[in-house]
Amino acid sequence: MAMPEMKILLTRDQISRRVAEMGAEITRDFAGQTVVMVAVLKGAAIFLSNLSRHIQLEAHFDFFGISSYRDRTRNTGEVKLTKDVDHSLEGKNVILVEDILDTGLTLTYLKDVIAAHKPQMLRVAALLDKPARRVVPVRADYVGFEIPNEFVVGYGLDYAGRYRNLSDVCILPPEMIEPEKE
Ligand code: PRP
Repeated sequence: MAMPEMKILLTRDQISRRVAEMGAEITRDFAGQTVVMVAVLKGAAIFLSNLSRHIQLEAHFDFFGISSYRDRTRNTGEVKLTKDVDHSLEGKNVILVEDILDTGLTLTYLKDVIAAHKPQMLRVAALLDKPARRVVPVRADYVGFEIPNEFVVGYGLDYAGRYRNLSDVCILPPEMIEPEKE
């Protein structure tokens, strides 16, 4: 199927420059240490792969899966773990990698899950932050871009499983959002 025309919010060049800066900042903050980069499937996979290549430290990868049971077009929903990390995070420098911080429900839940591992340090890196949608007051330590309250896709972010592979972050036109089935 052909890709629809969408308005670009962040170009691939803007993203690439900012991701490089974030990687340099993390490299400085954790100088001489080892980090475990923990990404949340699936959306954060592209951000993880690009961010990690700008981190000049020993870096390990692990992954959480969360249920996609809730809907990103709505402010509600329950967060459930569908995949836990493979290795304990005890005593580790953990960088939780998220593509977007929206309501904050996922991050709040995962922070508790990670805290139970007793890491040495936990930092959160989010490519996008949409503060207008926040339901729980939670923040990321490294933020790529603060964005307006638009439904965005691309660079890992999907709508109904589509558009993750767009290189730019684009705004999904409201007419493309299907009404919720009750
Ligand atoms: C997105 C994103 C975060 C979460 C943030 O995941 O990757 O995990 O939503 O939203 P919140 O702040 O409102 O909790 P999504 O549920 O779309 O799953 P996906 O990564 O598989 O697309």
